[in-house]
Amino acid sequence: MKIKVVKDKKELGNFVSDIVCKIIKEKNEEGEKAVLGLATGTTPIPVYEELVRRYNNGDVDFFNTVTFNLDEYINLPQEDKNSYHTFMNENFIEHININKNNVHIPDGNAEDLEEEVKNYERILQDSGYQDLQILGIGHNGHIGFNEPGEFLLADTGITHLTNETIKANSRFFENINDVPKDAITMGMRTILNADKIVLMITGESKKEIAAKMLKQEGITSKYPATLLYLHPDLTLVLDEEAYNAAQEIINSEV
Ligand code: F6R
Repeated sequence: MKIKVVKDKKELGNFVSDIVCKIIKEKNEEGEKAVLGLATGTTPIPVYEELVRRYNNGDVDFFNTVTFNLDEYINLPQEDKNSYHTFMNENFIEHININKNNVHIPDGNAEDLEEEVKNYERILQDSGYQDLQILGIGHNGHIGFNEPGEFLLADTGITHLTNETIKANSRFFENINDVPKDAITMGMRTILNADKIVLMITGESKKEIAAKMLKQEGITSKYPATLLYLHPDLTLVLDEEAYNAAQEIINSEV
């Protein structure tokens, strides 16, 4: 695992955007489409901002890029302000020249959800899986909506949110009861199929999980993100806030 510490959100945006743009350029030079695995949430926003800025500057062309989002709530209308469809449109998709047919976000309102998750995995597989998967992390170690538990999903599937995640995500909803309890998420194998993975951890509030990830003690389904240690090309990017606070925890333990 490579570790990269960035000063702040701006540097995070630059660092991850460099990786994204390099992959798009290389793939386009080979006459292929770059396949990006994308995340929602607060953490990747500086990356989308920087990518949009570079697009407006003429530094990157998204026309031949294919995207797959990690997850989406079940039974939340796509037009809802909290759906991940809305998030992606507002923060990224509407601002770039990507071909909309190449944008994939699970459909949490599909009539047949079992069919939807199988189909999502199939399309991803047919696209050759992600050249790059971008990830944030929950305080409880979830990635995508792969929540801690005895069993983790291997492939894209249906999952139930833990109370901790419902509480964390309620900051965007008027009422905690409005937070959907179920979601579609890429599974652990789906994520690990990516050629390259970048996991971002920012802010002091993530210090406990940042310390856990930095210690690399072992792999456990109690912290799904620890399965990422199995990946040969994993980069953990932390901002100074998260990194310094995590180091304090690590130092206080020795
Ligand atoms: C979002 C996702 C989640 C978030 C995680 C952290 O698509 O898959 O795993 O990455 O909940 O969210 P933020 O960045 O809002 O702290």
